[in-house]
Amino acid sequence: MDGTGISVQCWTMGTITRERSTGLAGWHGGIIDCFHDHGYHLLTGGKFVTHPPGFHDHTVHLLPERVDHPVIAGLDDFAVHTEQYWVLTDPHGTGLRLDHRAQARRLRRAGSPHADRKGTAVGEPLKPLNIGIVGAGKISGAYLSTLRSLTSVRLTAVTDLDRMRARAVAEQAQAGEEVAVLPSVAALVARDDVDAVLNLTIPAAHANVALAALRAGKHVYGEKPLAANREEADAVLAAAREAGLRVGCALDTVLGSGTQTARKAVDDGLIGTPVAATAFMTGAGHEKWHPDPEFYYRPGGGPLLDMGPYYLSALVHLLGPVVRVTGASSRPRARRTIGSGPRAGHTFPVKVDTHITGVLEHAGGALSTLVMSFDVRAARLPRIEVHGTAASLSVPDPNNFDGAVEIHRGDGWETLPPSAGYPGAGRGTGLADLAEALSDGRPHRASAELAAHVLDTMLTLMDAADQGRALPVTSTCERPAPVAPAGH
Ligand SMILES: NC(=O)c1ccc[n+]([C@@H]2O[C@H](COP(=O)([O-])OP(=O)(O)OC[C@H]3O[C@@H](n4cnc5c(N)ncnc54)[C@H](O)[C@@H]3O)[C@@H](O)[C@H]2O)c1
Repeated sequence: MDGTGISVQCWTMGTITRERSTGLAGWHGGIIDCFHDHGYHLLTGGKFVTHPPGFHDHTVHLLPERVDHPVIAGLDDFAVHTEQYWVLTDPHGTGLRLDHRAQARRLRRAGSPHADRKGTAVGEPLKPLNIGIVGAGKISGAYLSTLRSLTSVRLTAVTDLDRMRARAVAEQAQAGEEVAVLPSVAALVARDDVDAVLNLTIPAAHANVALAALRAGKHVYGEKPLAANREEADAVLAAAREAGLRVGCALDTVLGSGTQTARKAVDDGLIGTPVAATAFMTGAGHEKWHPDPEFYYRPGGGPLLDMGPYYLSALVHLLGPVVRVTGASSRPRARRTIGSGPRAGHTFPVKVDTHITGVLEHAGGALSTLVMSFDVRAARLPRIEVHGTAASLSVPDPNNFDGAVEIHRGDGWETLPPSAGYPGAGRGTGLADLAEALSDGRPHRASAELAAHVLDTMLTLMDAADQGRALPVTSTCERPAPVAPAGH
């Protein structure tokens, strides 16, 4: 330590192992909320409970009898504007009354807006999680580029109904890594060097592949939607519960700086009480660019089930779960024409509604208006806006990880600097969050419970549209933990 000018403690929500039992770790929550095991709270004499909403001015008074303690020696009482920490403490413990948040703010001022973000970058569990990919189609390339940059996961195997595609993915994997190309899902999930299955198949196959993986004792992280219907989604959740395994489901775009900065603005009370939101996804249809677009127009597809998960996941992060929906939908065209690839010009039948409009009532009372359409040639609609009693918030496209968050407090739009979210996130960040969560023994954020609630909300909206009335949404979920600067 003699040669160290400053030490930045940046490990939080970890698991203390025998190997890790000595050292300098944990600052978050005044070092009372870094570890939940091994009697750590007996050592610190306190436990973090919650952040009540809003930022406040505090003065931190140092106890006169403790001012010479080496941790605070040389400091005077100081003022700080900060979020609040409610903690349970042992009244018999001795304290220094050093407000840790003052340290965090000093660090932030000293560097970039992300100077104190290091601790929430997707971390490195002791041993990488071995991943087997099922489904080596169009989206697999985006995952590969993220997986290549992560040390928390390692690609070991791949399979696809089309063996050529699987081979191509294996060849593009990390240089020097041996990736096995397997003939079937059964062969892939039977391998000892696969800990988790990355399910990148089409929606109709999501549940079957997930169930095969869970039955073989593997965790699963899959593309959205979680399943094509509620029964399949329930079966996946039940199988995971029974086996004690994790199931994650993409929407990890909302873990990036765009949605997370917006969420932090809402949680910090910058817009007052949320009243309403709008969410618009309009386009002419994916058959323009996708070479095999039929699945988007079969059950499990359509603009709501395909694109809705981005918007609804963002809305649940921002405003909480949905309790009631109503809506209307239409199917203006019976057939669509493939616009690219070797099958360009072929037509195929449309089996789902392609223009959906709805109103969602969130548990907190806010109302979201939704338009999801594959029948709009052009539009100038915003992606997501959230309106509160004090201000309005413009939220970037939830199909992207980042983007400008703007706030209007009554005197023009101003851009909020990125203040939360995994930096440099890409498709697969949710899987890395799951790998880290497994290692740390905490819930993962892109959870199957969130995905199941989003799926149930979308299906209930379709039922409401069919029946022409408002319907309650009977499922719910916890708001996932934010990816905030301090890592909670
Ligand atoms: N294409 C995109 O831009 C995009 C973006 C975000 C999310 N997604 C989601 O990713 C998933 C895949 O989309 P895509 O565009 O890559 O589709 P795709 O049709 O290009 O690829 C899917 C692949 O899965 C394989 N497959 C299907 N069933 C299988 C099974 N039972 N066993 C093994 N392999 C199987 C197919 O052979 C195909 O290669 C979908 O859920 C989609 O919603 C796609």
